[in-house]
Amino acid sequence: MAFRRLWLRRVLMNKEFLCRVFRKDDENAVKQLVESIFSGFLEGKYWNWKYKENPYFDSRLVAVAEVNGEIVGCNHWLFRDLKFSGSVVDKAVLAADVAVRPYYRGKGLGSSLLQFLRSSNIVKSRNVALIYMFADLELAKKFHTPAAGYVLVPDGTVQYTKVLNWKKVKQNIDLLNDEMRSGNLGRKVPKRGLKVLFKMSAAPPLCIHVKEDGLAVDESENLDGNADVVVSGDLSVLNRIKMAKRRRWSFLKALLTGKIKVKVRLSKLFSVFDALWIFEEVFGKKMT
Ligand SMILES: CC(C)(COP(=O)(O)OP(=O)(O)OC[C@H]1O[C@@H](n2cnc3c(N)ncnc32)[C@H](O)[C@@H]1OP(=O)(O)O)[C@@H](O)C(=O)NCCC(=O)NCCS
Repeated sequence: MAFRRLWLRRVLMNKEFLCRVFRKDDENAVKQLVESIFSGFLEGKYWNWKYKENPYFDSRLVAVAEVNGEIVGCNHWLFRDLKFSGSVVDKAVLAADVAVRPYYRGKGLGSSLLQFLRSSNIVKSRNVALIYMFADLELAKKFHTPAAGYVLVPDGTVQYTKVLNWKKVKQNIDLLNDEMRSGNLGRKVPKRGLKVLFKMSAAPPLCIHVKEDGLAVDESENLDGNADVVVSGDLSVLNRIKMAKRRRWSFLKALLTGKIKVKVRLSKLFSVFDALWIFEEVFGKKMT
C-alpha cells in the first residue's frame, strides 16, 4: 500500500500531484470538471447522465488527480458485459472519460490517471476479458497507447440497431394518446395513475406518467422521489427483451437475474400489471 501511494505521487513543477479513488465529497468538483471539459454534451447534464444516474456507476472506478487539495483531473471507467458474438458474452471494462484541466495538461496527469485505474485492484479482481475504449486516432497513438498500453484495432459497424430512442418513444406516446382520446382503444388504463421512471444506462432518465386521460412525459431533474416505479438496467437487456418471442417471460428472466431492476411502490403493484401493455406498445415498436 505504501509503495502504491508512493508510486502514484508525482512531482509537477515543484508541486506534487496525487491520483486517488473518488470520494463522496469530490462530487461537486468532479461534476464541475467533467461538465466544463465535455460541455458540448447534454447541456450540462453530463455528470448525472453518464455517472450518477448510470445503473453501472461505481464510484470506485472514478480516479481523481489532485494538486494541493484541488481536483484538476479525473478518469471514469465502467464495468460492462460485452457481446463478442451471438453466444459469447464476457466481462469487460469500458474506459470512459479522462479529463485534465487545461492549465495542468502535458505534465503527465492524464497518463497517471489511466495507469491508476488500470492497476486498480477492483478491476484486477473482476478478471475482465478486455479493457476497451473509443478514442480519437491521434490521441490514442500519442496518449492512450504509450501511457497505458492500449492496442489500436480497426473498427467498423457491422449492424446498427437503435435500441432506445426517447424521441421515438415520445412519438409512440402521442400516437397512443390519440387512440385513447378517440375512444377506439378498447383497452383498460389504470385508474389511479402511475409514474414510471426509466433509468437505462447510456440514456438520460425519463418518466412516463400514465393517467386515465392519457400519457405524459416528464424529463425534469430529481424525478426519483416522485416515481411509483423505477426501472433501471442496461440497454442491451432492453434489446433482448424486445427481440424475444415471449417478451413478458424475457422481462421476468431479466428481473430474476438482476439484469433489470424494478422498484415498485407496493400500493401501485396492481396498476403496474394493468399498465404493462402500455409499455409494450410504447417500447416494442422500431426505434430507428
Ligand atoms: C487527453 C488529456 C486527458 C491528456 O491529459 P494530459 O495530462 O495532458 O496527459 P499527459 O500529460 O499524460 O500527456 C501524455 C501524452 O499525450 C499527448 N496528448 C495529450 N493530449 C493530446 C491530444 N489532444 N492530442 C494528441 N496528443 C495529446 C501529450 O502530448 C503527451 O505526449 P508527450 O509525452 O509525447 O508530450 C487532456 O488533454 C484533456 O483533458 N483533454 C480534453 C478531454 C479529452 O479529450 N479526453 C479524452 C477523450 S475522453
